[in-house]
Amino acid sequence: MTEPILEVKDLHVRFPVRRNMLGRTTVENHAVSGVDLTLMPGETLGLVGESGCGKTTLGRTIVGAQQATSGSILYDGHDLTALKSREKGRYRRQIRMVFQDPFSSLNPRMTLRQIIGDPLVATGEARGAELEDRVAAIMRKVGLSPDYMDRYPHAFSGGQRQRVNIARALIVNPKLVVADEPVSALDVSVRAQILNLLRELQEEYGLTYLFISHDLSVIENIADRVAVMYFGKIVELAGTAALYERPQHPYTEALMSAVPIPDPALRGRGGRILLPDELPDPANPPPGCAFARRCRYAEPGRCDTGAIPLEDGARCVRQEELDLQGIVEAESTKP
Ligand SMILES: Nc1ncnc2c1ncn2[C@@H]1O[C@H](COP(=O)(O)OP(=O)(O)O)[C@@H](O)[C@H]1O
Ligand SMILES: [Mg+2]
Repeated sequence: MTEPILEVKDLHVRFPVRRNMLGRTTVENHAVSGVDLTLMPGETLGLVGESGCGKTTLGRTIVGAQQATSGSILYDGHDLTALKSREKGRYRRQIRMVFQDPFSSLNPRMTLRQIIGDPLVATGEARGAELEDRVAAIMRKVGLSPDYMDRYPHAFSGGQRQRVNIARALIVNPKLVVADEPVSALDVSVRAQILNLLRELQEEYGLTYLFISHDLSVIENIADRVAVMYFGKIVELAGTAALYERPQHPYTEALMSAVPIPDPALRGRGGRILLPDELPDPANPPPGCAFARRCRYAEPGRCDTGAIPLEDGARCVRQEELDLQGIVEAESTKP
């Protein structure tokens, strides 16, 4: 049986947002509140959810750019949150991040040679002619001519800069790539090219992707499985086709209803569900289900109080209803 490449277990990340006079934290933002995730080698797991739900924080914590408050992150069976810094470095190079904004994430005073080669220079892994060869090789792989090596980022378009970002992430031969909204800042015409490039590179190097996006059509296009994140938690995780055909959680259903459907025969099925209100305040989580105030199925007195119905494998009002329908359907199809 294949072992997972990454296992995230009960991960919590909280940010101090206010301190008292003694410097003690009095208010915290719960950005990630108990996430469990498993990534299998070679797959693309999509992570979707509206802005502010904790996607970037989760991704940054996985690559080690953000400290976990509690929980564990097992890479190849080793808990990254417990490793000593020297060992950490070894695993950290195997997990790399591609950032959203190809404009602000590239240092304008560095040439492409410096930007792309930086991870090798920082570790002392390569210099001189070898460094140049490796930079040139990875530039070709991402579709950039090595002739541009000594130019600065401003000379390039958004799509080309994102290729630079990808080259910088891949030059150390990682196994797992966390791509945080890698096409969101790009023109629609360029998006498909970058998505295709990511797919080709995945095939060639056997990469595993955690692909973060708030855009469901992008996720549908690239992911094998999809995790839906809401207010710091994964509320639903399923194979891409199953999730798009039969969303279970009311939040997923609402997200899906806003996706434009290209096939006119399928359009109008269900209609768009408007999401009222904004996200709850992460420094002050509501009691009960964090989605209850926005949910069209919520039962007052049940969903908005007491134990959070989504935890411990319990299903919410709508999911229970779907379970019942499933049973009824299964019963009625019996011979
Ligand atoms: N450095 C930080 N300090 C305090 N709060 C933060 C910090 N980074 C993110 N947050 C908060 O954590 C929550 C999740 O943010 P983020 O992970 O960026 O979400 P997403 O990527 O889904 O938009 C938000 O409420 C955000 O304000
Ligand atoms: Mg983000």
